[in-house]
Amino acid sequence: MLRCRLKLWPLLLAVGPVAGIDNGLARTPPLGWRSWNLYYDHVDQTLMMRSMEGLVSRGRLVDGKPTSLCDLGYCDIGLDDAWQACGKGSGGYQYHAQDSNGDWFPVVNTTRFPDMKAMTDKAHSLGLTAGWYHNNCICAETQNVTAEVYAGDVKALLAYGYDAVKLDGCGTEYDLDLWWRLLNETGKAILIENCHWGKTVPNSTWCPWNFFRTTVDMTHSYASVVGNLQSTIQWAKNGISSPGCWAQPGGLEVGCGGLTSAETRAHFGAWAVISAPLILSMDLSDVSLMDELWPLIANPDILAVNQAWAGHSGSPFQESLTNVSLSSDLSVPSWQYFQKPLGDGRVAVLLMNHASSEQQLTLHLADVPGLSCSTCSVYDLFTREDRGPHSELTELVASHDAAFFVLSNAPGPHAEVIVA
Ligand code: GLA
Repeated sequence: MLRCRLKLWPLLLAVGPVAGIDNGLARTPPLGWRSWNLYYDHVDQTLMMRSMEGLVSRGRLVDGKPTSLCDLGYCDIGLDDAWQACGKGSGGYQYHAQDSNGDWFPVVNTTRFPDMKAMTDKAHSLGLTAGWYHNNCICAETQNVTAEVYAGDVKALLAYGYDAVKLDGCGTEYDLDLWWRLLNETGKAILIENCHWGKTVPNSTWCPWNFFRTTVDMTHSYASVVGNLQSTIQWAKNGISSPGCWAQPGGLEVGCGGLTSAETRAHFGAWAVISAPLILSMDLSDVSLMDELWPLIANPDILAVNQAWAGHSGSPFQESLTNVSLSSDLSVPSWQYFQKPLGDGRVAVLLMNHASSEQQLTLHLADVPGLSCSTCSVYDLFTREDRGPHSELTELVASHDAAFFVLSNAPGPHAEVIVA
């Protein structure tokens, strides 16, 4: 048993939710798929359309019922970088050009995307929303961008039928207030992702987007996953990661390679317990990969924990005082316990073992913030089994693995969505 524990919860500030934008979207963390983490710039219309089919396929079961990823909430399909016709711009721009009326528009690579509108039409016909991507990194604009260029991008977004947009931090279209104002003026509710890697961040009165990247890109490694996870803690503690303004440590690396199955479930559990948007990128047409990961990504109890809202987005409340080194520049506590309140005195708890060998992790339920019971029903979220009443849990957790529970007065997962 590890006794070296640090209580963090009393340090949390009791503040109200941040004032988000009022487009009515992302009241719970958005779920979907986006092309970057696996495919990078190897993306085209065919891949996007195939991924749409993957999101709506009911070829697998949840609780005995044929269910698609979209049935579970993963309904936004996002196209990331590399859709631009690089070098086809005018006036010094890389991919922005003027039409015969002098209006600016973004030039699409029509070899890769012969008919973008047909692509978003297909998404809509399948019951999906479609996300686009701007202020790109590949072929970024480097000269100052005028407001007319922003306006041209928003006009194109509307004309192509997109419902969401990720605004990256690479080019000079960096003004998120201007983006928000122009998107708002369209009259269409458009989901906005701020991908400025923690450089443009919200405060208690300003959050003109629906979710924001807290740090750099992830790579396919546990160190990267855990490093990015730490960057969300401040946003949970200061109450800013909240409905309409979620902290996002990056899209999911689940199924993208480089992680063991233990690391994959620890990663998914962590993103769920901190209320991060759950954006897949894996190959949805890979049957054996999908079969392997389905029990995780389609676990309705874990998704319900992610979607629940009871005033706090999820953060560590105890961690080891002993650190382990996960890479040359990342040292983290050898274990961390995260909690997220689910409402009615129910709490989700994730026990993470960051060490390179297994550890016996002990949780005293009396130490869990917000629990209304001292001996509580324990529901195992990974196995989906009731474990009966406990006042203490001792789990043998493998290296880079996790254990994930709902603790409550009564048996069962009890994590129905509670929206603020
Ligand atoms: C940045 C972003 C990534 C991805 C790439 C595309 O690195 O952080 O998520 O969009 O750009 O070039």
